[in-house]
Amino acid sequence: MKKLFLLIAVFFLGFVLIACEETDDDTITIGANIYTYGDNFMNGVVRPELERYAEELGIELDIVDSENDQGKLNDQVDTFIARGVDALAINLVDPAAARTIIEKAQTADIPLVLFNKEATEEGVMDIYDAVWYVGTDSAEAGVIQGQMMVSDWEANPDWDLNGDGKVQYVLLKGEPGHPDAEARTLESVKAFTDAGIEVEELALQASTTWNTGDAKNTMDSWLTADWDDDDVEKDIELVISNNDGMAFGAVTSMKEADTMLPIYGVDALAQALDMIGAGELNGTVLNDGVNQARATLDLALNVAQGNDITEGTDWVVRDDGTKAVRVAYVAVTEENYEDFQ
Ligand code: BGC
Ligand code: CA
Repeated sequence: MKKLFLLIAVFFLGFVLIACEETDDDTITIGANIYTYGDNFMNGVVRPELERYAEELGIELDIVDSENDQGKLNDQVDTFIARGVDALAINLVDPAAARTIIEKAQTADIPLVLFNKEATEEGVMDIYDAVWYVGTDSAEAGVIQGQMMVSDWEANPDWDLNGDGKVQYVLLKGEPGHPDAEARTLESVKAFTDAGIEVEELALQASTTWNTGDAKNTMDSWLTADWDDDDVEKDIELVISNNDGMAFGAVTSMKEADTMLPIYGVDALAQALDMIGAGELNGTVLNDGVNQARATLDLALNVAQGNDITEGTDWVVRDDGTKAVRVAYVAVTEENYEDFQ
């Protein structure tokens, strides 16, 4: 009798559980992508936090790799829309292609949070009321990196290898047209000229995927190049890298060539912090991907639930037309890198 009762109880419990699962359509589903899983920062910092935080929030996150192909991303967004996701969290491949994605979301009436690559077309954020951006103030990283380099340059007169008072530098840029790449390039160099220090760009390299391997090859060739003008001796005196991923490639190249030059990155990836400790990297700038991932999902969840966009959070959306949440950058040097490890 007891056994039979137990059996019936278990049967009913199972039934109730299945029924719950089937009718539980409260779960918020978010369709998301990373522009390429080949990016150290996006794949190594932002994606894991998106996945972890989605679980914490009870969100169903459907995340895909856009393989650095905007056409592929357009198709992926169509698929998300066809599946009826509650919100989209999109890392553009091409920052100039925001309109296509925004119009898709608008037509389908699905809220959209763009993150990491800010739309470059002026006014495009205004065409749809349910689109926002989560990222940083692109220029800020360059300003901070520039200040670090200027103060180290001033403290180390021997870095001016040919003693001409000018900084002969090479620069690893990242993706042309990417607001972060463009603004960092301008601001880091401007810090020197603002401080009254002359600069001379020996070479600049752009790479659409901000890639370690490409940077290594580039640095290999830069280290063997002859930079002398007819009568003036010139060498590379500083390596400016717009992200840590590319700095890793340059450091590997310098180690192989047994020539360690001052080098600075951006992102503060775990490996970069270790390299600062080992004296291989002079500094980096924390690009807080963890908080960018959290802000992206907080906003997406709020809007999917019909809440005010920042309800229950500390995020601030700028009302300057950018509709952006901008997470702050932080300088990371030999003095404080351990705080970030
Ligand atoms: C990061 C880079 C990354 C890029 C991708 C930037 O904010 O600093 O490391 O490659 O975003 O869009
Ligand atoms: Ca010099």
